[in-house]
Amino acid sequence: MPQIIRALLAVLLLAPVAVLTGCGDRNSQADLDPATGKHAPGWLPGGHTVAAQDHGASCTECHGEDLGGGISRVACTNCHLGSERQIHPAQWGAYAYALHSQFVKQNGTASCAVASCHGTDLNGVSGSGPSCSSCHLGGPTSAHPQAWNSDIVSLHAGYGANYQSSACATAVCHGTDLKGVFLSGPACNSCHNNFQ
Ligand code: HEC
Ligand code: HEC
Ligand code: HEC
Ligand code: HEC
Repeated sequence: MPQIIRALLAVLLLAPVAVLTGCGDRNSQADLDPATGKHAPGWLPGGHTVAAQDHGASCTECHGEDLGGGISRVACTNCHLGSERQIHPAQWGAYAYALHSQFVKQNGTASCAVASCHGTDLNGVSGSGPSCSSCHLGGPTSAHPQAWNSDIVSLHAGYGANYQSSACATAVCHGTDLKGVFLSGPACNSCHNNFQ
């Protein structure tokens, strides 16, 4: 094969590789603001999730091959409980609403009370984790009003004086139809017969 054709072929074959590499470089560079040496505002919450899903391989350049920190000294698991790419423990899956209860009883609230997760005061972070009290009636560690915990069966009876029935009828508590939720609150009619 004449020299010139071989050279042309080489250029043609390598061109797509060059384009891909160029692209990767551009993405990883764009992820960090060269002026500040930090990620741009809006990176957390939101931005880094999109970037990790879009071109996650580029994170290793600064966060290390194993995402354990690298030159950035920020490990993904500084915040994530599950893995480098999973915020909650892996086994929670779709049942975070129920399985977080046991986790908090065993480990306390410190690993939820992160500035970018549920907030250091557990009141939630816009665009990130909700306030614990968006579901709980009794503060971060009590699904029901704390006073009920001594004898919930008789003490919930007067709830109407303080709470609307919609406080029980939520998707992750007793269900929007009060028929109960898998792994969470029972159906009201498991004891009563007057709830439709
Ligand atoms: C060019 C280097 C570089 C690349 C590439 C990079 N990071 Fe970072 N990252 C840093 C540095 C340096 C910090 C610490 C300064 C800061 O907070 O911005 C950091 C911090 C972070 C933080 C914590 C931010 C905060 O406000 O506490 C997150 C989250 C993060 N990086 C995610 C990612 C993800 C996801 C990727 C891949 C899509 C990525 N980074 C790619 C250098 C990089
Ligand atoms: C400073 C805390 C912090 C650090 C460090 C951090 N993350 Fe996150 N990550 C979060 C929070 C909070 C969320 C959920 C809110 C959001 O979308 O930003 C999240 C969500 C994600 C998600 C979406 C998956 C899910 O379970 O919702 C991915 C993927 C992700 N991060 C990748 C990374 C990678 C890769 C790194 C390390 C390079 C990293 N994160 C470092 C706080 C962090
Ligand atoms: C989306 C709604 C929702 C959010 C947000 C929520 N929880 Fe829960 N939580 C529940 C439900 C439902 C239960 C009862 C389920 C069970 O016991 O299995 C519960 C139960 C608990 C329990 C057991 C105590 C009790 O009274 O049953 C603890 C501890 C707990 N949650 C901690 C937290 C913390 C800490 C946060 C915030 C970081 C939080 N929860 C946010 C819905 C939520
Ligand atoms: C474990 C059984 C049990 C479950 C589940 C239960 N209740 Fe009750 N409930 C009772 C008992 C027993 C009483 C009577 C308590 C008393 O007067 O001391 C009662 C009383 C009440 C009362 C007072 C009026 C009446 O009918 O006696 C209301 C209102 C009430 N429950 C609402 C609810 C709602 C709403 C749910 C579901 C979110 C629910 N209950 C789930 C056992 C239960």
